[in-house]
Amino acid sequence: MNLSGWNKLTHAVLVAAAIVGASACDKLGGGKGKDKGSATEGSGSGGPAPSTGAILVGHFASLTGSEATFGVSTDRGVRLALEERNAAGGVKGRQIELKTLDDASKSSEAGNVVQRLITEDHVVALLGEVASGSSLAGGKVAQQAGVPMVSPSSTNKKVTEGRDMVSRVCFLDEFQGYVVAKFTHDNLKLTKVAVLFDQAAPYSKGLAEVFSSEFTGMGGAITTSQAYTAGDPDVSAQLQSIKTSGAEAVFLPGYYTDVGNIVRQARKLGITAPFLGGDGWDSTKLAEIGGDAIEGSYYSNHYSFDEARPEVQEFVSKYQKKWGDTPDGLAALGYDAARVLFAAMDRAPSLSGKDLAAAIAATKDFPGVTGKITLDSNRDAQKQAVVVQMKGGKPRYVATIVPKGWPEAGAAKPAEGSGSAGSGSSAK
Ligand code: PHE
Repeated sequence: MNLSGWNKLTHAVLVAAAIVGASACDKLGGGKGKDKGSATEGSGSGGPAPSTGAILVGHFASLTGSEATFGVSTDRGVRLALEERNAAGGVKGRQIELKTLDDASKSSEAGNVVQRLITEDHVVALLGEVASGSSLAGGKVAQQAGVPMVSPSSTNKKVTEGRDMVSRVCFLDEFQGYVVAKFTHDNLKLTKVAVLFDQAAPYSKGLAEVFSSEFTGMGGAITTSQAYTAGDPDVSAQLQSIKTSGAEAVFLPGYYTDVGNIVRQARKLGITAPFLGGDGWDSTKLAEIGGDAIEGSYYSNHYSFDEARPEVQEFVSKYQKKWGDTPDGLAALGYDAARVLFAAMDRAPSLSGKDLAAAIAATKDFPGVTGKITLDSNRDAQKQAVVVQMKGGKPRYVATIVPKGWPEAGAAKPAEGSGSAGSGSSAK
């Protein structure tokens, strides 16, 4: 497999992608009319979407800021799905158009851009966000306006709770916390772990809690639980406490920019224990920021480009052809979320918010790149997870872990010639 693109998501590429998004926005925004609509809480969106011409879908994403690769990768996955669907005739005989707005990695901005997509552009549905905090904020607006929203990758439980307009195609942190605990306990055979979480991010706080309770339930011990806030330049006090706590590993459920910086600080302070994380680590920037300090550490994710499953390898090659880069988990989930949305549009009797939300919620056995997608009564998906290890600056496949009660994962092997030294086994 050609992985040369993996490290190439440089600033230049990010800027280029943001411009692609922006020019698409200009094109789409221009002809749609900018009437402000009359959105009132709970009474429907700012005017009906047009019933002829292209179907407009909105995407709210972190194209800039500390989580920029999340939004850029997701948008690329979505655009690949869109291109394929339009080439195959679109939905209900109409082409689909995408308008992406940047929330600058700020949950405070996510609600605003969702409001704009609804009242100014009259999107029929929304894709987004990645960060749970931003999906919580955007989902509030989507719910009030009655516009269906599919989050590709927000894993905090509360994202869909009590919001029948909001669904997601990924697993929850209730599962992800179990995955990391199980891997740490069963595969790494460690029993003493310290936790360091971002107290301001619902994702990080929630995942830290689930991990801690799962790990102690397995007989492990949490040596200390420390908190930081995203962007903190100095976490040496917390790291000192972790060092003296006797931890054999450190669970750090943060987003990649903080993770990279924190791991570097830890190594300077003489902490040699491996770090463990969740999907928030998934970025080409992780190795750039973390350098050697991140080597050998593990994180859980929704998919690995290393997996031999044919749907993965087919997606990786299509994505590489279009974007010249190896797709991360966000790209795969963006692709899956868009395809789940289009399939629901096919099935829905109309594209009204109510009909479309019901069709999305009825998604069953959808063959996604990230696994089979069936939405439960809370509009959440139950999926398998993978664990990857940072090696030579790349996240290499190590294991697949399935939800409790599922049969063990079958073809959980790295792709041939991928160079992954993973066990290829699934944990029980
Ligand atoms: N699950 C993270 C959250 O909910 C977002 C994320 C998903 C980040 C997948 C990277 C990869 O905040």
